Amino acid sequence: MTTSPPIAWNDRVVRQFSIMTIVWGVVGMTLGVYIAAELAFPALNMGIPWLSFGRLRPLHTNAVIFAFGGCGLMATAYHTVQRTSQVPLFAPKLAAFSFWGWQAVIIGAIISLPLGYTQSKEYAELEWPIDLLIAAVWVAFAIVFFGTIVKRKVKHIYVANWFYGGFILAVALLHIVNNISIPAGFMKSYPVYGGVQDAMVQWWYGHNAVGFFLTAGFLGMMYYFVPKQIGRPIYSYRLSIVHFWALIFTYMWAGPHHLHYTALPDWTQSLGMVFSLILFAPSWGGMINGIMTLSGAWHRLREDPILRFLIVALSFYGMSTFEGPMMAIKTVNALSHYTDWTIGHVHSGALGWVGLITMGSLYYLIPRLWGRDRMYSTNLIELHFWLATIGIALYAIALWVAGVTQGLMWRALEPDGTLTYTFAESVKASFPYYVVRLIGGVLYLSGMIVMAYNVWRTVRGDTKASALPATVETSTPVTPAAPQLNTASQSH
Ligand code: HEM
Ligand code: HEM
Repeated sequence: MTTSPPIAWNDRVVRQFSIMTIVWGVVGMTLGVYIAAELAFPALNMGIPWLSFGRLRPLHTNAVIFAFGGCGLMATAYHTVQRTSQVPLFAPKLAAFSFWGWQAVIIGAIISLPLGYTQSKEYAELEWPIDLLIAAVWVAFAIVFFGTIVKRKVKHIYVANWFYGGFILAVALLHIVNNISIPAGFMKSYPVYGGVQDAMVQWWYGHNAVGFFLTAGFLGMMYYFVPKQIGRPIYSYRLSIVHFWALIFTYMWAGPHHLHYTALPDWTQSLGMVFSLILFAPSWGGMINGIMTLSGAWHRLREDPILRFLIVALSFYGMSTFEGPMMAIKTVNALSHYTDWTIGHVHSGALGWVGLITMGSLYYLIPRLWGRDRMYSTNLIELHFWLATIGIALYAIALWVAGVTQGLMWRALEPDGTLTYTFAESVKASFPYYVVRLIGGVLYLSGMIVMAYNVWRTVRGDTKASALPATVETSTPVTPAAPQLNTASQSH
């Protein structure tokens, strides 16, 4: 019997993106902590325009979503597509361009946003020259990803690739349509859309940035790394296919829930609300599929902190996709909109789902990428898990209470119809919650710094005697992933 030669994986670009995920995670979360501190103690802007909340806030959102999240998505997409296709990456030079080009986009954001250059569209603040570079990088990413799928040696396209592929195509579409604008000089442009159409296009983009960037891509991560870390196929392959098609079809219609009670036609708002409610079903289908993969092996959660990251991430995915449809109901939104409830929802999704699934996947990936049999310290993974989880709980609970308090104070009326509270009184009432959110943010950031240290020691090749037995951390084979995962269409 002849054995085929080992595949020369292109892991260089995966290693580069993995390291930058951690670097940008620390940077973006430090900015988050700083702006959280500014909200509690406004004097922290020290009168310097570049440090003002208005300029640092978009820097935070761009750094955590596109730099931390984007690098994590590209690292794991490039890893997953190679392993499940059983071929190295197509067009390695383009893959290298996607890495350096993406870092150039991030540096462009770090320079231009504090200087005050912005299109004033949330999550699409960057001006047209940077937008063009984003488009070029994204095309390169798409060619490498789909090119690898085209030359695959495995007939079947594993479901994680469907999610990554959907995310890549949808983000290209969203980015191009929302950023069509007329340049009016270097770093200045005007959108081609006006008034309510501009708002509609922006929130079609904004909501699908959540649906495809912050959800579909990370579900690709979930479908690969959860089965790998557990060491068994996904609970139901059939459900994962239904999950994919239902999710991508439904997300596209839900954008108007960001524009309730605005100049947008009323029927459009109701349509957005209905599709948001429908979205609950595929979201929970996916969550259940991920969590049930552990069925019969629940005890593993006690022993394996990496698995805990992945499964708790799925629980937060479930929580935020229950809360989101509730907030999309117009009467609930009348209370929640403009309040910190929205910010609490955002971060239960962002810290709980996006953050934890990325961290868990990287803890799986990093030792394998550098040829180590485990992370340097399991205790530090454990510490990170608790710092992150307590941090999220403090952040989210504080802002839920703050949000409901603000909403109720703003709508309270005296018998003669005048407002019971001034706006300043609601700001004062929010202060203690802002301090608790700040503490939660500091804990979450500390966890990220612990991870950076643990990764650094792992990459250097240091070993620690106290690490858990290898059966826990390296219980699944590194390669090949595809045969084990692709034959997952079992009886469920
Ligand atoms: C240490 C962790 C973090 C802290 C302390 C933090 C803090 C903050 C603060 C103070 C704001 C502004 C809220 C406001 O305008 O009232 C904000 C906004 C935001 N953050 Fe974070 N953040 C953190 C991590 C993250 C992560 C990891 C993500 C995404 C993956 C994220 C995504 C966002 C988004 C999308 C917004 C805008 C929300 C909106 O406009 O409704 N944050 N964050
Ligand atoms: C079924 C799924 C979901 C639905 C129906 C949904 C619905 C909503 C609604 C109704 C709002 C408030 C809009 C407003 O009053 O302005 C909102 C805001 C937001 N949600 Fe969700 N959500 C879902 C899942 C998620 C997840 C998983 C994440 C993060 C990973 C997320 C991130 C955000 C962000 C960033 C915003 C703030 C947008 C902004 O105003 O800047 N959502 N969502």
